[in-house]
Formats: sequence, C-alpha cells, structure tokens
Amino acid sequence: MTTAPIDVTSTATWAELIDHCRTLEPDLRGWFAEDPGRAQRHAHQVADLHVDLSKNLVTDETMALLVRLAEEVQLGERIEAMFRGDHINVTEDRAVLHTALRRPAGAEPSLHVDGQDIDADVHAVLAKMYAFAEKVRSGEWTGVTGKPVRTVVNIGIGGSDLGPVMAYEALQPYVADGLEVRFVSNIDPTDVAETTKGLDPETTLFIVASKTFGTLETLTNARLAREWLWEGLVAAGAIENVEDARTAAVSAHFVAVSTALDKVAAFGIDPENAFGFWDWVGGRYSVDSAIGTSLAIAIGPERFAEFLAGFHAVDEHLRTAPLAQNVPVLMGLLNVWYVNFLGAESHAVLPYAQHLHRFPAYLQQLTMESNGKSVRWDGSPVTTDTGEIFWGEPGTNGQHAFYQLIHQGTRLIPADFIAVANPAHPLTDGETDVHGLFLANFFAQTKALAFGKTAEEVRAEGTAEAIVPARVFEGNRPTTSVLAPALTPSVLGQLIALYEHITFVQGVVWGIDSFDQWGVELGKQLAGELAPAVAGDAESLATQDASTKALIGKYLELRG
Ligand code: F6P
Repeated sequence: MTTAPIDVTSTATWAELIDHCRTLEPDLRGWFAEDPGRAQRHAHQVADLHVDLSKNLVTDETMALLVRLAEEVQLGERIEAMFRGDHINVTEDRAVLHTALRRPAGAEPSLHVDGQDIDADVHAVLAKMYAFAEKVRSGEWTGVTGKPVRTVVNIGIGGSDLGPVMAYEALQPYVADGLEVRFVSNIDPTDVAETTKGLDPETTLFIVASKTFGTLETLTNARLAREWLWEGLVAAGAIENVEDARTAAVSAHFVAVSTALDKVAAFGIDPENAFGFWDWVGGRYSVDSAIGTSLAIAIGPERFAEFLAGFHAVDEHLRTAPLAQNVPVLMGLLNVWYVNFLGAESHAVLPYAQHLHRFPAYLQQLTMESNGKSVRWDGSPVTTDTGEIFWGEPGTNGQHAFYQLIHQGTRLIPADFIAVANPAHPLTDGETDVHGLFLANFFAQTKALAFGKTAEEVRAEGTAEAIVPARVFEGNRPTTSVLAPALTPSVLGQLIALYEHITFVQGVVWGIDSFDQWGVELGKQLAGELAPAVAGDAESLATQDASTKALIGKYLELRG
C-alpha cells in the first residue's frame, strides 16, 4: 500500500520558509566575511566526492528549515520504501529498485521483493553479461566469418542510449585498445547511415537495447542495421543470400538487452544472446543494468564492477546518513528552495571535465522525465511548481557562450560545477600545467558568481562612468561545487547515483511519482496515427486538423 502524498505547501515548515524567504537578503560577500566557518560547515564528503554547498543562497536557518521540510514530508520513510521495494512507482504499480542493481554479491540481508530473489537475479545477469563481455574482448566471440569484433553498435534511445553513451565518453581512458563503441538512437535514417559508415560488417556487433523492445525508433533502427549487415556480408561474398545464412549472421552479430525476451526472440535474436532486466528498473535509471552491456565490453567487467561499487557507496550514504548531512538530500532540498521560494526555472550543470561532455544531456532525461509532472502520485494536482529545466555544457566552452546570462542576466540560475583534480591527460605546453589553468577557470567562475564586482570596484579600475553599470556583477549567483580525485569508473557511478537521488528527493517533496513517464505517450500514439497521412493517404490526411493537414501537405509537396 502506498501512502497518499503529503501536501508540502500545507506544512508548517513551508509557511515558515515563505516568511524566511521574505526576510532573507542574500549576501554571500557579507555572510562569508562575518562567518569564517561557513565554507567548512557547508562542505560535505560523500564517497570520493567533495561537495561544497557554501556558495548557495542559504543561511544555517534556511538549511535547518529545509531539513525540517524533508522530515514533514517523511522523506526518510520514502527512502526506506524505495530500498525495500515498495511499489512507489504508483501509476505503473511497480517497485523502484535501481539501487538493487549495484548491491554487492552476498549483501545482507538479502533482498526479496514480490516473490523475486532480487540479488540472485541481478548477479546471474551480471555474470552472463561479464562472460559475454570477456568473450568479445578476448576475440573468442566472432562474427559469422570467424573474425573478432572491432566495433560494437548500441541501438537504443532515451535511457537505453543516453546512459551508455555518456558513460562510454566519460570513461574513454579505460576503453580497450582496438575496440570502439558507436551509438544509434534517432529514427532519422541519417543516424544509422552515418554511424555504420566505414564499418566492416564482418567485425561489427549490434546490441539492441530496449527495455520494452517495442520502441519504434529502436526496432526500426535494428531492422535497418540488420539490412545493412546482410547487404554488406552478401556484397563481400561472406555469406550467401539465403535464409539460413542470414539467420546465422543475425545470431553472430546481434545481441539484445531487454525485459521482454519473447519479443527479442521474435526479432530473430537467440534468447541465449539476450541479457534481461526487470520492470522495476526505469529506463533513465538503467545504465547500471544490462543496458550497460556496451560499456562493460568497452571497459571490461572489472571496471564495470567498480562503476557499480561507486553507485552503491552513494546509495549507502543516502540510506544511512542523517538528513542534515545527507548530500543528495541537501542538494535536492536546495533545488526545491530555488524553484519554489526563489523562483528559479532552470538549473545549469557545468562539468569542468571534457570527458563528461554528455553528462548534462544524460541528466536532462533523468531529471526532466522524472519530475516534469503536474499531478501527484495519487492523481491530484501538484500544489506548487515542479521540475526545473536542466541544461549545461562543459566548461570552459560554456564560459564563451551562455555564462553572460548566468552572471548578469535577470534570471536566477543555480549551477553545479563538477571537476576532477587529476586529469586523464596531464599535458603541459612546456611551462604551464594546462589542467591547473583549466581548474583556475572553475574556481574563478564560482567566485565571480558568488561575490560579483561592485560599482566601486569597477570605478577603481578607471572605467568610464557611463560604462560602469554594464560592468557591475551583482554576485549572489548560487553554485554548488563538486570535486573528485579523478574520473574513475567508481567516481562516475557516484556522480550518477548522486543525481538519481537528488531527483528522487525533489519528487518526494513535491509528492510526485518520479518513475513514470506518461507524458511521452501522446506524441508516440499520434505519430503512429499520422503515418498513413504522411505516406500520402488522402483519406487520413483529410481527417487532420487544419494546421497539421497544411504542414503534411507542404511536406508532400516538397518531397515531390
Ligand atoms: O519514450 C520515453 C522512454 O520510454 C524512456 O523512458 C525510455 O528510456 C525510452 O523511451 C526507451 O525505451 P525502451 O528502452 O523501452 O526502448
């Protein structure tokens, strides 16, 4: 049984926060000047992540009130309910157990949910996936002509793509020599065409990754890839164009990851070559399930296990740390503070680590598909704003693009800065440690955003009076800094788990189901309904609304 959501806006603490917000005058300069302990008091450690919250627009009282708010909405109980396997994904009547994917073997007490021995099933799939990864890496797994795999192409979309591609990019230094992973997601046929360009079908392995194995994009792309494989092998004289040979080619060059193993078999992929997972893993929470098979091949089982251990370290922190010292809880509450009390509409995530260049894109699905909701888990309307817009690009590139707006624009944009101390490539230009120079920018930006530059300081530089206002930086632009020793598989797992749990915390405060995604359905349904009209069916076209009809008409005219 799931409890009804508590209306956070009716709590006593919410009212206190409103009053507190009314009287609070953010003054990071003053707060730091008057309080030498501020930096230290607001610094936290979770696993390898050093998290500095001190440059946020909060006082100790704000933080205490936010923690009390978390208590009022019974966050601790919700966290326990998630780990226990309660059906907190109410609208789909499912448990939410991505945290079980990274429990170490033999963890006590063992986890049984809805009659399933979760630990046994998770570790059975991991063992199968690791054995397969080893076979591909060692060359024991061969294509239909006996050649080892050189390129793995992951076909998936959403959570079946964004996690693997982000992690593969992030962990480039750990990728085995001679192996490459490419990713196809978009149903735009350009994606398959460009991604397979230059590949040798004899040494290419496709992983069809789809939780439901019913996603239009992925199944269409899998069929395109299968055609590409057959055509390439036949053209090279590697196989004859007969059914048996084509079937054998699919067995050697296609594997699948899915919760729907019957549909995998219907596609022609041997279920022996399929890696399962379960409906209690949401797509956007699945990079650490078999959906990460391409990553496991690329970095190897040992590194993949380290990746999982990183997640688990943060899971343990979420489960056991008191709310007032619980980093994902505090970061989630800060986000609530900015959205609901200070009116922020978006949140920037700015990795100062080029290898994390797909991290903001990954987070967009994680956060916005989870918390972009306007009803609560019992179907009643939300009582306050939810789901801010997450966006970002790596620093320093962003500094030369959109930072102007963060520094001097009219909108409040809280930003997370993420960096690692030890780079994968410690290059120098002969004199300078370039990574040091890179991180000087990280520290400079968070300092500039917090403390700004006053008119007096601008004038003191001899600036002409007319230009002074344009050169003033108000400061009080909030940031959180996350520093890790290096971007190892474990640290990446820690970062992902941190943001998974921040997202969950916000969802609990707002009383929403962060694990369904009904908002993606209507577009999918209409695309299916419109397909005949787009293919030129006049009857179907005639039934469309005027705008859609005119647009499709124009498209058909342009196609000629
Ligand atoms: O359309 C959204 C979505 O359902 C995501 O939640 C999911 O990650 C993605 O599609 C892909 O789904 P699947 O893994 O079932 O192909």
